[in-house]
Amino acid sequence: MPSILYTALENIVWTAWQTSAELCRYGLKPWWWQVRRAVWLAWFGSSPNLAVYRHLREHAPEKVQRGGLPDDCGDLTYGEALPGAAYRLLKQMEIDSSHTVADLGCGRGIIPLTAAAAFGARSVGCDIVREYVERGQKAARYLKLQDKAEFKRLDFTSEALPAADLYFLSATCLSEDSLNKLLSRLHKAARPGCRAISVSQPLPAALWQLQMRAKVPFSWGSAVVYAYTKK
Ligand SMILES: C[S@@+](CC[C@H](N)C(=O)[O-])C[C@H]1O[C@@H](n2cnc3c(N)ncnc32)[C@H](O)[C@@H]1O
Repeated sequence: MPSILYTALENIVWTAWQTSAELCRYGLKPWWWQVRRAVWLAWFGSSPNLAVYRHLREHAPEKVQRGGLPDDCGDLTYGEALPGAAYRLLKQMEIDSSHTVADLGCGRGIIPLTAAAAFGARSVGCDIVREYVERGQKAARYLKLQDKAEFKRLDFTSEALPAADLYFLSATCLSEDSLNKLLSRLHKAARPGCRAISVSQPLPAALWQLQMRAKVPFSWGSAVVYAYTKK
């Protein structure tokens, strides 16, 4: 079997398995259904890969190969948190309605939507791809949480980051250059005592105190997640 088909099959089996596990664990929780329904409705007729394709066609047409995505999408490679895994992480960080959660590179917004729907927290999802932001706003409207879950277009390598009590960084596919720029923006925005969760990449020990390290399931497989407090 060609390796691309094998990878696609592996991904479908992984997602189905994880979703069934979440259904057993969170199937009686209204927020789990509400977040999934809102994201499904907001993304009906599109997909994250189509959003990336449209973004590249507009901003970097030379990267669009024969009408399709490049083999390596670099910083824009898509993968996302699963609602149940996002919930467990937010619970471990003791998030409540007094907190603001910022997801830097929010994709379809699973983390900000879960923070608002399950914990009543204020949340901000930031992404460079306009379609993620627009559909995230739509999902927040389906949840009637547009006052709690905000989505804004922002390039985290060059623009000021919002103030937050907990920052979420999906650093798995970021280039070294983008990660360094993001970290320097984060150091400017993050006040002492605030927290950060970084996926796949540890943060500098001189500035961040490690609180927890755990393996967490994501849409593409398991990844190591580091949780920190700013010194
Ligand atoms: C792996 S996805 C993570 C999605 C989300 N955090 C989650 O876990 O569900 C990474 C996201 O970062 C976004 N991204 C990449 N470079 C960015 C940049 N310079 N500024 C803002 N967002 C960026 C991508 O568009 C993508 O949606």
